[in-house]
Amino acid sequence: MLGLKIEDAVKYNKNLKKYTYKKGDKLRINFKDKEALMEYNKTILNVLFGLDIEFHKNGLIPTPINRYLFIKSTFETLKNLGIEKPVVLEIGTGHSAIIPLLIKKFYDAEVYATEVDDEFINFAKRNIEKNNLDIKIINSKGKIIKGIEEFKGKKFDLIISYPPFYSKNSVASGRKFGGALAKDVELIGGGKFGEEFSIRLIDEGINFLNKKGVISLMMPKKPEKRREIIIKKMEDVGLSVEVDEIKTGNRLRYIIKGIKM
Ligand SMILES: C[S@@+](CC[C@H](N)C(=O)[O-])C[C@H]1O[C@@H](n2cnc3c(N)ncnc32)[C@H](O)[C@@H]1O
Repeated sequence: MLGLKIEDAVKYNKNLKKYTYKKGDKLRINFKDKEALMEYNKTILNVLFGLDIEFHKNGLIPTPINRYLFIKSTFETLKNLGIEKPVVLEIGTGHSAIIPLLIKKFYDAEVYATEVDDEFINFAKRNIEKNNLDIKIINSKGKIIKGIEEFKGKKFDLIISYPPFYSKNSVASGRKFGGALAKDVELIGGGKFGEEFSIRLIDEGINFLNKKGVISLMMPKKPEKRREIIIKKMEDVGLSVEVDEIKTGNRLRYIIKGIKM
């Protein structure tokens, strides 16, 4: 299984050592400490994927192996559809630009990514420059796809997103999400189950997809209702749906892929 033991990670990154402690004869890291989590994930990206990525201290910290598996599952679907060099759009790349960077590193693709937060956009651009990969970052200015000048008349083979999925009542201040304080902009989503952003993405995305194009969304296990609504929406707009489960540690994530036949 893909992974990096803490014992090995400290060999590659000496900065990690100060966050470790022993439990029995095993080395552990307190992942509730955001600095430790950032340092460990940076090490994984570097050692396993050959990427040099910095995280913004105010943003949610992505789990690299999970994002890699999300992309792998999605690109297997594209391959089965006979799509060799897809034109890809990622919605909401965050501060790390982890999804487009992993895509460019491992697949032959033309890649665009959007983000709405200015600070995150600057961070994402710096990560892209550092890795010397050709990815176009676009400020969505709060739009999803429709109305974004750069995408006028454009079609994609893949629209991929780990979308904001928080319900209306989510608040950032003082609350922890995935062991990290989050920016307000990361806590949107809307609707009873946080499904609204994804529903809009599907509604708009369908008009920007090539034939055999795919909309691929990742969702946590709970609530099940959110996944059901998203799957139904994909079916309603005429997409054929495939669902994959991926596991990182004990976290289960669902990859919902809607294919335009
Ligand atoms: C769940 S995070 C995913 C970040 C990153 N792609 C990852 O995999 O870790 C969702 C991101 O969407 C961004 N976002 C929210 N509204 C957006 C919009 N209208 N256009 C583009 N990005 C948006 C948030 O700022 C946040 O960075």
